[in-house]
Amino acid sequence: MCGIIGYIGDKPANQVIFEGLMRLEYRGYDSAGIAVLDQGKIVLAKDVGKLRNLRELLLTNFPSISSQGIGHTRWATHGRPSTFNAHPHGDCMATLMVAHNGIIENYMKLKHSLQSAGHIFKSETDSEVLAHLIESHYKGNIEDAVLKALAQVEGAYAIVVLHRDHSDRLVCARKESPLIVGLGKGENFIASDVTAIMQHTRRVVFIENLECAIVKRDRVDFFDLAGKPLERKSSLIDWNPIAAEKGGFSHFMLKEIYEQPQVIRNTIGGRTQEEDGKIFLTELGLTGPDIFRTQRIVMVACGTAYYAACVGKYLIEQLVRIPVECDLASEFRYRQPVVDRNTLVVAISQSGETADTLAAVREAKLRGAKVLGIVNAKESTLTREVDGLVYIHAGPEIGVASTKAYIAMLTAQVLLALLLGKIRGTLKPEFVQETIRELKILPQRIEQLLSNTAPIRALAEKFKDARHFLFLGRGINFPTAMEGALKLKEISYIHAEAYAAGEMKHGPIALIDKDLPVMAIATNQSVYDKLVSNIKEVQARSGTVIAVACESNCDIKNVADYVIAIPDCPEILTPILSVVPLQLFAYFVADLRGLDVDQPRNLAKSVTVE
Ligand code: M6R
Repeated sequence: MCGIIGYIGDKPANQVIFEGLMRLEYRGYDSAGIAVLDQGKIVLAKDVGKLRNLRELLLTNFPSISSQGIGHTRWATHGRPSTFNAHPHGDCMATLMVAHNGIIENYMKLKHSLQSAGHIFKSETDSEVLAHLIESHYKGNIEDAVLKALAQVEGAYAIVVLHRDHSDRLVCARKESPLIVGLGKGENFIASDVTAIMQHTRRVVFIENLECAIVKRDRVDFFDLAGKPLERKSSLIDWNPIAAEKGGFSHFMLKEIYEQPQVIRNTIGGRTQEEDGKIFLTELGLTGPDIFRTQRIVMVACGTAYYAACVGKYLIEQLVRIPVECDLASEFRYRQPVVDRNTLVVAISQSGETADTLAAVREAKLRGAKVLGIVNAKESTLTREVDGLVYIHAGPEIGVASTKAYIAMLTAQVLLALLLGKIRGTLKPEFVQETIRELKILPQRIEQLLSNTAPIRALAEKFKDARHFLFLGRGINFPTAMEGALKLKEISYIHAEAYAAGEMKHGPIALIDKDLPVMAIATNQSVYDKLVSNIKEVQARSGTVIAVACESNCDIKNVADYVIAIPDCPEILTPILSVVPLQLFAYFVADLRGLDVDQPRNLAKSVTVE
């Protein structure tokens, strides 16, 4: 999704900002722009497409020695991707420039009244109203004008403002969309994401909701949106920047798939004690009474995180015997959900910045529920809004298609279910010990799977031109089918649909013919025979079946057309293994089709707008 960076210091701003934007590329974008203040004049460069286009433009037309400026990568919401719609946006006389993430919901009303007052708009965006609004309030004090403008705005924003008459400062503010200030020596940064500035500084201040900052070369002042000064503490970011590089793999997605064994070790590391079956989730934030009081769990999430939640439902219902509902966060937030103080709402998110998930959390809290976050990104907005946390420790995930975070979400939920089951007395100690033992072996099992990916690549070669795909699964691996279908469609652009295998005969079976390959996840022992029957139903109608099955199920070879074998493991852990061949299949298909695996079209890594 859109990315922002601002810089003020003594380095060439064009360069610092451009490099920062490159580090934000993984979020997905369709156009980009940079504005710098060069000897009292604003110099602006914007272009559609990849950042290399902008680089050409900067090198040829806009060389600058400025040391103050702002930049933006845009992911279109209001107005198509175009140079005019790219940020930064200026006012009528280009005296100021604004880069904005989020959506200004009342922009049409504001735009009409600004146009009636004579303002000339150049873009179709909601964001441009900010520049003209600030212009309309400007009487020599830029922060004052920004605050007055923001008071008229409804919606979500993270903004950074550069003004021609203020060569000593940038002004920034946020409501809902994330924004940070990076602190350097004689230089300071503003960014929507720590990754953008990590090579310059690791000391950052997270701007809180409804706050703004005046960022100068040697100081930063924080205020609320009424202009009241605030004290803000900085944090030190301790992530390893090497984790954000490709490390020899052709794509981040592939690297992240190969990181999965280590990710599982990190997710369970220091949290289990095999000898006595102890589980430690130290940031859980739930007391014994909270856990006993819980009559219902509602899980909210989007996309891949939602499918992880669906696996969580099977895990928790089976192991803890508490009813669990899974809800898409975008639905939950608007349907007047029935939750109360006896409901535990669990929000799952890799980024911790997904707008719908955050809104669902706020809705749940308003209704009195306790909210637990299962989150990857440290210090993200979600982590600051929930009552308790289970970090998944997957490290930075750069590929837009989520892989390692999914596996880590599943692993974290196994730990959560074991802990809740222990506390509520639904699990025998031996079961907990045995499951911990199995969890610890899981990374080796994935390594075994990853040591020979050639057969999966060969299948991808065979099916890369398919126009549609059907994914079938049952029970705890029905969500695996949904996640496999999502992976295939988002990076290979092949239409893929997932069904609970038992539901096929109620409709989708009508689609089956020789041109509709079917991927069947046949890894759950408890419904294996049922799944085999479903495979036979497909074959009786000339369908081609690829089955993902456990090694010990030798007879599957006599049933399916192709088999991908995964190592045996207890059924509750099979979703963690079964998804790996599906990730690889989607990856190879997309790569063989010559597509941009890490940044698929129209998608963004972090969906910070509704
Ligand atoms: O950061 P989150 O986990 O909240 O993101 C949720 C979805 O946007 C995300 O999983 C999306 O579906 C991915 N592109 C899936 O690969």
